[in-house]
Amino acid sequence: MTTTICSTTIPESSSLAADTALVRQHLAKVAPPRVIDAGQVADYKDRIKRLLKDKDAVLVAHYYTDALLQELAEETGGVVSDSLEMARFGRDATASTLVVAGVRFMGETACILSPDKKVLMPTLEATCSLDLACPADAFRAFCDEHPDRTVVVYANTSAAVKARADWVVTSSIAVDVVDHLHALGEKIIWAPDKHLGAYIQKCTGADMLLWDGACIVHEEFKAKGLLDMRALYPDAAILAHPESPEAVLAIADVIGSTTQIINAAVGMKNQTFIVATDKGIFYKLQQLAPEKTFIIAPTAGNDATCRSCAHCPWMAMNSLERLYNTLLTGNNRSVVDRELAQKAMIPLQRMLDFSHRNKLKLAGKA
Ligand code: 13P
Ligand code: SF4
Repeated sequence: MTTTICSTTIPESSSLAADTALVRQHLAKVAPPRVIDAGQVADYKDRIKRLLKDKDAVLVAHYYTDALLQELAEETGGVVSDSLEMARFGRDATASTLVVAGVRFMGETACILSPDKKVLMPTLEATCSLDLACPADAFRAFCDEHPDRTVVVYANTSAAVKARADWVVTSSIAVDVVDHLHALGEKIIWAPDKHLGAYIQKCTGADMLLWDGACIVHEEFKAKGLLDMRALYPDAAILAHPESPEAVLAIADVIGSTTQIINAAVGMKNQTFIVATDKGIFYKLQQLAPEKTFIIAPTAGNDATCRSCAHCPWMAMNSLERLYNTLLTGNNRSVVDRELAQKAMIPLQRMLDFSHRNKLKLAGKA
């Protein structure tokens, strides 16, 4: 069954309530990271630094992970970045082991792009509500119903979903890729994030069929709360990740991936920013623009209790202690079946090649 919203058709895969229940069920099985004191933090950091060297490993961390992990990645020659750069950095790294602090799809992407490297993660339990909302079997069946469409999937998906796609994109490149495909006259299937899909459709005018998934973190940002907050800080700019709902994006001054949000905050003249994305990003925002003020966008309105409170429960599973244990034992290895990885590599490589060509074009070298 499908629902038509404007010119966009959405398969009714799952309701937000069902998605939330699924996420809660998953989270209930996983113990939260143990709280440790300053002495233990320093001790773990020292040990991890030694282990990274001994094991020829490099740390690849997402902006949403704990500030301690981001700090450690920077101090040890690793990277803190958005998901596109994580993929690229991991592929190009010379270390034989990549330790990916983030969520499952990021580890899988590293495995696919670097089949000869060992990929470890502080936890293998950290998935993503978008990944959960897009089971591969249902997605394949949906694609098979529309053989005339080019299949473009968000990086926040399983290797099996990527293997069914023509293109994989991250939020920093999604609009450019779909724009390119639209210019070639291609009609698109997009999965799984319906808000990002609707945003891309609005930017490009492409004919897109959208899967009905949403991120439990960004879904909670509310336009009303944002407007109330902007009334308190009239000079503040609103920065939003495109996984946020349409009403939030409609009042945002800048919409972009995590890196694009950071670049905007650094480059804009405003002194105050209201930020509609995971609050893990504040580590990098404060580091790069220490003189500016960053406020987290309100979630779920005044009377409601937020479920995620602007912090991804999956990213929060990555802790210093878990990172140490993983490095020490070699446990939590991310593995993707070789045949599946070879199939998923094709749309991922397309994205990386496209991004490379775009960069050359921007630099006037192509
Ligand atoms: P970025 O690619 O912008 O880092 O986004 C990843 C993500 O999971 C956002 O919720
Ligand atoms: Fe997935 Fe949302 Fe967490 Fe990003 S913030 S990893 S989209 S659940």
